[in-house]
Amino acid sequence: MKIITVSSLKGGVGKTTLSIYLGQALSKLLPKSKILNIDLDHNNNLTDYYLREEPVELIEGNSISKYLTGVKELESLLTPTIFENIFVIPATPKLSKTAVGLSWDAGLITRFRKHLRNLKFDYIVIDTPPALCLELNLGIHAADLVISPIGFSRWNIQGYQEIEEVVTNSNESLETGKIKILPVRTMVSEKKSEILDKLELKFAKTFIPKSESIASSVDQGKTLTEKNSIHFEQLAKEIK
Ligand SMILES: Nc1ncnc2c1ncn2[C@@H]1O[C@H](COP(=O)(O)OP(=O)(O)OP(=O)(O)O)[C@@H](O)[C@H]1O
Ligand SMILES: [Mg+2]
Repeated sequence: MKIITVSSLKGGVGKTTLSIYLGQALSKLLPKSKILNIDLDHNNNLTDYYLREEPVELIEGNSISKYLTGVKELESLLTPTIFENIFVIPATPKLSKTAVGLSWDAGLITRFRKHLRNLKFDYIVIDTPPALCLELNLGIHAADLVISPIGFSRWNIQGYQEIEEVVTNSNESLETGKIKILPVRTMVSEKKSEILDKLELKFAKTFIPKSESIASSVDQGKTLTEKNSIHFEQLAKEIK
């Protein structure tokens, strides 16, 4: 099993889009693998992508908040999608308030890492909110690999350093299975991706181009065109 968490302190850089299409790319690349996408963002765009037709009651009942508050186990929250091998644990806007109330529970972060590793999945891809909060810490501490999308703005780099710090702090408390971090250039033209590449960060080779077609696919809950799915498949190959 490999747990991949997608995090950035900058909003709107393509975290949710990457979480969704990386999951689908892994599933295509390794057809026998089972993929779980977990939504740890109360803005729940990943939940909406996969479960837009499902009733609110089902989403509430299966939401990650039920695990965090100790009402249900993770296994009972696994929600099927239209893809046979892709499951989701959704989030609702209530997650934010739930998490604030739980911030004192230091053991939760350690338990979440352990409980995720007991699930029978090949890949777990976690989407996180763009803020230093319990949800981000839960996602990062649970990960084998943190992918941090970086767009073309100086504030993106500053945000990346904050995420790096969270990873470093988590690694200090982990005896084995240290968390790796990989910056990925997202929503950039080829030219801007080359400029970013001159920075000192060790970016993934693959970059995700700025594309109206990617934006409309994710906003409408659709799969990518063949041309666009290639980028996510290349990234999947790099990190699998
Ligand atoms: N490669 C891309 N090119 C152009 N637009 C994109 C691309 N990927 C995503 N978008 C659009 O940008 C917006 C933000 O993307 P997304 O929701 O994935 O970012 P995010 O980092 O998860 O945002 P937030 O911080 O709010 O959670 C979406 O409306 C999406 O349609
Ligand atoms: Mg998002």
